[in-house]
Amino acid sequence: MKRKLRSGLSVSLLAVAACVALHSPYSLAARDAQTILKETCQGCHTPEADSALSRISHQRKTPEGWLMSIARMQTMHGLQISDEDRRTLVKYLADTQGLAPSETDGVRYALERRLNTVEKFDEQTSQMCGRCHSGARVALQRRPAQEWERLVNFHLGQWPSLEYQALSRDRDWFDLARKDMVPLLAKRYSLDNPAWKKWLSSAPKAEALVGDWSFSGHLPGKGALTGVMGVTADGSDTFKISVKGQYADGTPFNGDGSAILYTGYEWRGNVTIDGVTMRQVFAAQDNAMQGRMFEAEHDERGLDFVAAKQGSSRLLAVQPGYLKAGSETEVTLIGSGLTGKPSFGNGVEVVEVLEQSPERLRVKLKAAANAQPGLRNVTVGTLNGPTLSVYSKIAEVKVVPEFSVARIGGGGGSTPKVQGRFDAEAWGKDADGKPYRIGVFPAQWKVEAFDERAKEDEDVKFAGTMQADTGVFTPGDAGPNPARKMSTNNAGNLKVIAAVDDAGKSLTGEGHLIVTVQRWNNPPIP
Ligand code: HEC
Ligand code: HEC
Repeated sequence: MKRKLRSGLSVSLLAVAACVALHSPYSLAARDAQTILKETCQGCHTPEADSALSRISHQRKTPEGWLMSIARMQTMHGLQISDEDRRTLVKYLADTQGLAPSETDGVRYALERRLNTVEKFDEQTSQMCGRCHSGARVALQRRPAQEWERLVNFHLGQWPSLEYQALSRDRDWFDLARKDMVPLLAKRYSLDNPAWKKWLSSAPKAEALVGDWSFSGHLPGKGALTGVMGVTADGSDTFKISVKGQYADGTPFNGDGSAILYTGYEWRGNVTIDGVTMRQVFAAQDNAMQGRMFEAEHDERGLDFVAAKQGSSRLLAVQPGYLKAGSETEVTLIGSGLTGKPSFGNGVEVVEVLEQSPERLRVKLKAAANAQPGLRNVTVGTLNGPTLSVYSKIAEVKVVPEFSVARIGGGGGSTPKVQGRFDAEAWGKDADGKPYRIGVFPAQWKVEAFDERAKEDEDVKFAGTMQADTGVFTPGDAGPNPARKMSTNNAGNLKVIAAVDDAGKSLTGEGHLIVTVQRWNNPPIP
């Protein structure tokens, strides 16, 4: 038992150290990857034809995926490897046996550490493979049938008690995994995919990313931001970056750092913004970067990020993205190459252009009193993409995320609290009665007991505090609480309620927040 606990701890420590490593550039003096493979892996992995190695040469995955496999070699099989050599190998393997951009579509949330994502896989995959870790961990790998089968064998061999766990003891897990899951996975996530060969031969050079990038972002609990990210080369596939930006409320967003490019598009940056280290996980492609930027110590504090290379032509965002019929407002368009005339569709008039540069276009808009509620396509010259919502009244308020998890922490322990962060989304009904998203509105926030049990246990009192005007929930301290029944911890089951004011009328929306214990094992891919 003691042994188990100890090794469990070292896995999580290693995963944290490993995650830091992935975002920082490796040194130029690094040993060559082929030499490392030969000297550190070949002892256990048998050489095959064409200088391949057993197991290793028959899989493709993300940089995080490679990092986790090698970290597992260290914790489970006693592999000895320096951090430097591991960085070199992850880079080499991600570049030569990575995933094409299209192969990560739809599952990037796991890399972006959007841990509140409710996954959508078929029921069998969710139950068989998505109950200990995310389904995305599976979907972010490519293997032939034999390698999927070995993975199944490894699971049962390494964790034999898995057969006694829920969603396993009610069925013959091993048999189903081999007979149903292996063929399904080999078909769905096969090693040989033309998309990968095509990407390998067509991926642009990393130098194409050097330059200034105009960006737009949104941080729940804080709001929209814009700015410019400068990227300069600093070795092959590594960069120095400087960020100069500002939130809509005027708060500066400035800092600098470094980044590394894996697989020709997997951008991993490390930026210190006003003293706080933030990670960037972006897909960089076609003069655009898109993804999420989050605090290293608090990945729940993160912003959606989209950027366009200056000199290219792209319309990224409209801030704010809504306008009330019969009213006037200022909106800012963000992008690059914004040279033409802006247009906002029927019933929306440009009263005045307040500022125009290729990266930024600020205008005063007026919506006619009788403007039809609904979405308008926004254009600048020939550029389009974002929409503007015109509304006359809010039909519904939604709490986003609708379901989420916060975690107690601190209290003398080393694991920090994980906050809940919420947005209040207003929705309208268009002329045909179809619901459409108007946008994120300011709201007043509170929490209530989710059910009778939570009420009886006074979860509202103990589980944490909701900041009324931001929608940021900070959970209670970790550890037993003598003030609670049976000295239980500060976990709780809560309703999150947002009240939005629409011309004097208050509308509310509701979400569900579970406040639970710390995540002890926090690998790069959840
Ligand atoms: C001490 C022996 C040992 C060394 C050294 C070793 N491995 Fe492994 N490796 C194993 C064993 C055993 C397995 C099969 C069980 C498993 O997957 O953990 C394995 C499996 C793997 C797999 C397949 C994992 C999967 O998910 O199917 C990969 C990839 C891998 N190793 C990579 C490496 C790399 C890269 C190195 C060198 C940096 C390395 N290994 C060094 C023992 C080793
Ligand atoms: C009993 C819990 C459990 C179940 C069920 C489970 N896994 Fe895992 N899986 C794990 C653990 C634990 C790891 C290792 C995590 C680490 O390396 O830190 C893992 C690792 C993995 C990896 C990464 C391996 C690598 O080195 O590349 C993949 C891929 C994977 N699982 C796929 C699957 C598939 C497919 C299924 C269903 C057939 C499945 N898992 C079911 C617990 C589980």
